[in-house]
Amino acid sequence: MNVKKKYGAVVISATLTLVLAGSYAYAATQHYADSTTDKDWAGWVQKWESQVSTDYEKIALTPGADETRMNFAWYTKEDGVATPKIELSTSSNMSGAKTYEGGTSQAIDGYRSNKVTATELKENTTYYYRYYKNGVPSQTASFKTHNFNSYTMLYVGDPQIGASKGQTTSIGDKLENASALNTAARNDSFSWNKTLNTAMAANPDISFVLSAGDQINKNVEGRSAGNEVEYSGFLSADLMKSLPVATTIGNHDSTNESYSYHFNNPNDTQLGKTTAGGDYYYKYGPALYVILNTNNYNCAEHEQVMRQAVSAYPNTSWRIVMIHQDIYGSGLDHSDSDGIVLRTQLTPLMDKYDVDVVLQGHDHTYSRSYLLKSDSKTHAKYDFYDWDNVKDEAGNVFPYNNNVYQDENNCYTIANTMSGSVTNADGTLYMEANSSTGSKFYELIPTKQDYIAARNQNWNPTYSVINVNQNTFSINTYEIAGGKIQNIDEPFTLKKTSTSRR
Ligand SMILES: [Fe+2]
Repeated sequence: MNVKKKYGAVVISATLTLVLAGSYAYAATQHYADSTTDKDWAGWVQKWESQVSTDYEKIALTPGADETRMNFAWYTKEDGVATPKIELSTSSNMSGAKTYEGGTSQAIDGYRSNKVTATELKENTTYYYRYYKNGVPSQTASFKTHNFNSYTMLYVGDPQIGASKGQTTSIGDKLENASALNTAARNDSFSWNKTLNTAMAANPDISFVLSAGDQINKNVEGRSAGNEVEYSGFLSADLMKSLPVATTIGNHDSTNESYSYHFNNPNDTQLGKTTAGGDYYYKYGPALYVILNTNNYNCAEHEQVMRQAVSAYPNTSWRIVMIHQDIYGSGLDHSDSDGIVLRTQLTPLMDKYDVDVVLQGHDHTYSRSYLLKSDSKTHAKYDFYDWDNVKDEAGNVFPYNNNVYQDENNCYTIANTMSGSVTNADGTLYMEANSSTGSKFYELIPTKQDYIAARNQNWNPTYSVINVNQNTFSINTYEIAGGKIQNIDEPFTLKKTSTSRR
């Protein structure tokens, strides 16, 4: 067992079997999405070897500070440093293009990170853009804006490109992520592309994607470039040039700087930081999005960010928080163990800042909670001690199966158990997204927790489609099985007849 502690984060090496306190076997399962059986596989193998795996210079789009802005980030080779720029036009021939300039910084060895923000975007418009790599313009790409006040977004969990390592393919190959070729990343990038294309084909009006962490798998440290091929795979999906993605930092992203060079996050607060970056927020139409890096357990810093975000945008109908470590999920591996270390401290903050929905990842299973509130009692703060134990502020060590610890973490009340839709809800909805690529799946925890309304594990890649307007937030979750999509839960809708805060 290889456990490291850094900036309050626990990094678990991706061994396939871990045993926790003798109570459960914690492990990735044998289930995964094997891309080698797909009819398009041979073409992808060629493309991966000739282009994708060696090209670190792909662009990433991220929602800007509000719906009128778009953020861009991309690597260029270190020679010939120039001011980064994006050209943006509403014509495909780039006539009348406006140029936006940004900043550049040293990225991994041999590369610079370029970041630019485009402003004054209008709704329901197709924008064409070019970016420059060492003085050479890119091919023209495009993105579309839709209605700013009533829109659709995609919510996905743990793409974790490279996490299928150790699995055996249909043709008997063992997947790995130790070589530059990284056959596990090759397999998982194929599924990632497929999931995005499938979701977009069914919902062509998606405005942006929310990815709840673990974009990549290889949790290398510091400035190591060891995960760059996985970022290449993540950014290689066809739609990544035209679909902004708001990502949060997962435990696999957290210990390495590459995340901070690849994504141009808006309103970067410099709080809640680990090596990869920290907390940020943005407003899009009637909703505020607060993205917290829960690999950092300093919830006082997360609270500062929530306060900043709410005071910057006090009047949105909806407040949505996204975190990686699920504090109310139903996966075997984390939901009743490391997830609840944060639960005691974050639940009251969701009440205090009137958060409607928390989007989570980390447990590679699907679940939807009832609407939950804090129990209003004071609870001890816990921190990780090692994989088997936590410790409180006084330094007392508790195994996860210790009753004192478990009792402390019953820190919630179930405010509403209605199905279908809830109007003017008192309480917070917690969603847990399954793997969007099928690179790794976990078991559901054997005993369903009382806070869980619905859960699912069919060992298929899943995604959720969220529709938001001034008065409704609705979520539908689908699996992709044998190329077909089907619901894995009933739709769930929050409604507000008044947008005044509770
Ligand atoms: Fe993960």
